[in-house]
Amino acid sequence: MEVSSPCASLLEVHDRSPERARWYCSQLEQGSVLFFPTVPFHLAEADREFLLALQLSGSWFHKNISYRPTTGILRGVSGDGEDQTRLHRIMQDFSSEVTQFVANLLTPYTAQLRLDFASFRPIEEQGRNLPLHQRNDLLHVDAFPSRPTHGARILRVFVNINRTASRIWKVGPPFHALVPQMIQAQKLNPPERSVLKRTLARFASKLGLPVRDRSRYDEFMLYLHDWLKENGDFQKTSPKRELAFPSGSCWMVYTDGVPHAAMSGQFALEQTFIIPVAALVSPEAAPLRVLEAATGTAMAS
Ligand code: CO
Repeated sequence: MEVSSPCASLLEVHDRSPERARWYCSQLEQGSVLFFPTVPFHLAEADREFLLALQLSGSWFHKNISYRPTTGILRGVSGDGEDQTRLHRIMQDFSSEVTQFVANLLTPYTAQLRLDFASFRPIEEQGRNLPLHQRNDLLHVDAFPSRPTHGARILRVFVNINRTASRIWKVGPPFHALVPQMIQAQKLNPPERSVLKRTLARFASKLGLPVRDRSRYDEFMLYLHDWLKENGDFQKTSPKRELAFPSGSCWMVYTDGVPHAAMSGQFALEQTFIIPVAALVSPEAAPLRVLEAATGTAMAS
């Protein structure tokens, strides 16, 4: 008999007909990981080969390669040789293919889908020596210090381009099943910025000054990200399940709502989308709405 687990579960997608779109969105929003055994969009074999063969030791190549589709800028590489140009083109193609795929599959989001960064992750996740808050192998929910979302959700699509090794994750219970009880037990106590400070920050950011216009929601999510990683007791005792994403597979998940940790794996492509609350099919499961209900406070501004 299958013992039911409170943790996020894997949902393998076979039927991509439009009638299923709302259901897939609602499953994602409530903490499922949508899984595709093979890459469900075009990814040229020659490009995959090129990415796998890149000389990671080269001085032009950094640990994190990010591509910003809205500006066309590639970060994490220096110089402008042939390899750089090709890498740029591959990231561009990947980003546009995956975006088209998501827009076709998750039609309730299509009109409001916002493109965030894409990334290439060439480093083996196991045994990385990173500062605590940057560690990927500790359960956490995502929050971006440099890109506040004001409650909009973070949807990420990953492809494991490794020839042999799976990418191994651990996942915990989804946000709506986990966080309200932490708040109730008064374990979470994020620092509060005053309304005046937030208003000033918003004003300064609108003027183009390098200040982040963070809402209460963004502050809470950044605090929660760090708190989960710092909390040895949570890391040890919280329910978790292991998910293995085999070579050549693809998956998508709301990483702001599913606590996740990357335990091992090398060579992944990823594209991030920002989905406004207004586009959600199950807004009550959105971290913004869950936090607002649990604290009795509006948090989007
Ligand atoms: Co993460």
